[in-house]
Amino acid sequence: MTLEPADLKAEILRLTRDYSRQVHRGFRPAADPLRVEDDQDGPIPYAGRVFTEDEVAAAVSATLDFWLTLGPEGEAFQQELAGFLGVRTCLAVNSGSSANLLALSALTSPLLPKERRLQPGDEVITCAAGFPTTVTPILQNGCIPVFIDNDPLTGNLRGDQLELAYAPGKTKAVMAAHALGNPFDLGVVLAFCKRHNLWLIEDNCDALGCSYSMPRSLAEELGFSNNSPGLDEGPDRVVRWTGTWGDLSTQSFYPPHHLTMGEGGSVNIVNSALLKRIVESFRDWGRDCWCPSGKDDTCGKRYDWQLGELPSGYDHKYIYSHFGYNLKPLDPQAAIGRVQIRRLPEFIAARKHNWLHLRRGLAPLSDLFSFCLPTHATGFDPEEGTFSWDGSGCRTDCSWFGFLLLVRPEAPFASHDLGRHLAEQKVGTRMLFGGNLLRQPAFVQLRKERPEALRLAVPETPGADQLMRQAIFLGTYPGLTTRMMNREIQLIGDFVSLRQGAAHTPASCV
Ligand SMILES: Cc1ncc(COP(=O)(O)O)c(C=O)c1O
Repeated sequence: MTLEPADLKAEILRLTRDYSRQVHRGFRPAADPLRVEDDQDGPIPYAGRVFTEDEVAAAVSATLDFWLTLGPEGEAFQQELAGFLGVRTCLAVNSGSSANLLALSALTSPLLPKERRLQPGDEVITCAAGFPTTVTPILQNGCIPVFIDNDPLTGNLRGDQLELAYAPGKTKAVMAAHALGNPFDLGVVLAFCKRHNLWLIEDNCDALGCSYSMPRSLAEELGFSNNSPGLDEGPDRVVRWTGTWGDLSTQSFYPPHHLTMGEGGSVNIVNSALLKRIVESFRDWGRDCWCPSGKDDTCGKRYDWQLGELPSGYDHKYIYSHFGYNLKPLDPQAAIGRVQIRRLPEFIAARKHNWLHLRRGLAPLSDLFSFCLPTHATGFDPEEGTFSWDGSGCRTDCSWFGFLLLVRPEAPFASHDLGRHLAEQKVGTRMLFGGNLLRQPAFVQLRKERPEALRLAVPETPGADQLMRQAIFLGTYPGLTTRMMNREIQLIGDFVSLRQGAAHTPASCV
């Protein structure tokens, strides 16, 4: 008996789901009752993809449809992500790095007002420590990154140094990441940008699901009156997701991130229809046309344009207003992403829960470690699991990418000793990515060859150096079980006791 295509597809998907339920059971969220760990003492990665048969079936279904290039799934994904965030548009791309490149490139468009358009030699303020591709698009576009320092306890840019970095007529934008799921001081950054009419690009790659709130009076002064969808802190405050305060923001969907589609990312365009058109153009070869995939004549004037030096009626699909790229992901990736978006609330809650569990478990070691604090927090009460806050009236709610700690200088070991020990015990950790990027070979080389290509707003960046030398982070991803985290806490405690014991052993006994 031959099955009809629809029945065949249903059968393939049924078998796919059965297969995935069996072979991927260790990848389910930690809270999923069907999750099975085959090896109780197996490796504990710092992060990884968390999924069920739903994602696998979505990928197979989209593959059977064989649209391949960004199509119906991509369109739906973009709308669903934009709906979650409450922004005008999300444009799917093939990585967070591509998203950063597009966001910064968009600001070079000749379609923007002359005084705001980034030109070669213009300056963009960023911070010294973090992930390299937050900064490299500035250089790739011939602009000058101007570095301020990081606060070692939040991992974020130091808002108090922004004015030091500002150069009238030169500074056009601020581009920085919310470090490891900890929002930077948006109150200070937005006020600075407003004061000097600067663009703000939020690298939200590690921070999907973080929110930032401020008193309504301050928010309205800065131009914000609405909460993000699903967020509410009462009538006197405005609360919004990070990635929705700036002009543009970016996401990464690489597996360790808050949702994944393998490789992938998005540029979030918060409000501006013009920026949407520009980012789309840069993403799609630089073309002037805005036809969706598979459509040829959305404007109904495909052969009716007379633009510049082009022959009259030249096909609009092949008219280029920018020097663009092609940075789109595939449709099956978007299909996976759509299932993951539905899991976001659960994933965000798990990341918060895991951070708290690790923070409480490691609290007795605070004489050896400084623990990361949410921006605007001044302290943490391990008993209550609550933070005390500074007097700014601004608050953060972190959807943690990782659990960052700094090994205190007086500890009898360094952060890399701890990292090595945990790796030997099959526990994954990471440094704060590139640490102080200015010390990375590519930046050292550039400073040697073309010192004018970048600028330091401050003579020293001790915070970024501290993060590079002393910081290390554990995972908080939703695949971590309580047992795994307890094992991490135990291993760190054992390591510390061992090192303290060795440090306290009299020299004559060694
Ligand atoms: C802050 C930040 N920005 C950008 C990226 C780049 O994302 P992708 O790996 O998807 O290119 C990362 C990567 O983890 C990141 O941490």
